[in-house]
Amino acid sequence: MALRNILTSDQPALSKKCRPVTEFNGRLHQLLDDMRETLAEANGVGLAAPQVGVLRRAVLVIETNVPEDEEEQVIELINPEIIETSGEQYGPEGCLSVPGEYGLVKRPMDVKVKAQDRFGRWFEIQGTGLTARCFCHEIDHLEGVVFTERCDRMLTEEELQNQEI
Ligand code: NI
Repeated sequence: MALRNILTSDQPALSKKCRPVTEFNGRLHQLLDDMRETLAEANGVGLAAPQVGVLRRAVLVIETNVPEDEEEQVIELINPEIIETSGEQYGPEGCLSVPGEYGLVKRPMDVKVKAQDRFGRWFEIQGTGLTARCFCHEIDHLEGVVFTERCDRMLTEEELQNQEI
């Protein structure tokens, strides 16, 4: 595994629509393994392939809603599609490609996604709260959309200091 460079949102790759993954081969597995390592190193909760300069529809989301004694789980979503949403949440959101900045974004509270795993097998997965927010945020990246385009406003320095993020 190797760390990959995380692009910042001013770089063109972050505003491009990504192409579907068609080959579920060693190259994809290498990409996903590298993304796992990069995400862990950056201490983030999600990462999309375009953030490491690969314009393919692959993202990682960390399932943080796990019992305290269990390890957080990394969900790999290849060619993901949102198939159901419900409820609403409004709160601060950030991105590894927009370091140190947070904005208020409205997202659904519950999101169901259909995706393929690294071997091409389709599955469905449900996320709530932060995980639902993350599904939406990462899938937006595949359309070339960064959260700053979706947020009502960015948080000020003062608000940042008073918030637990
Ligand atoms: Ni992001």
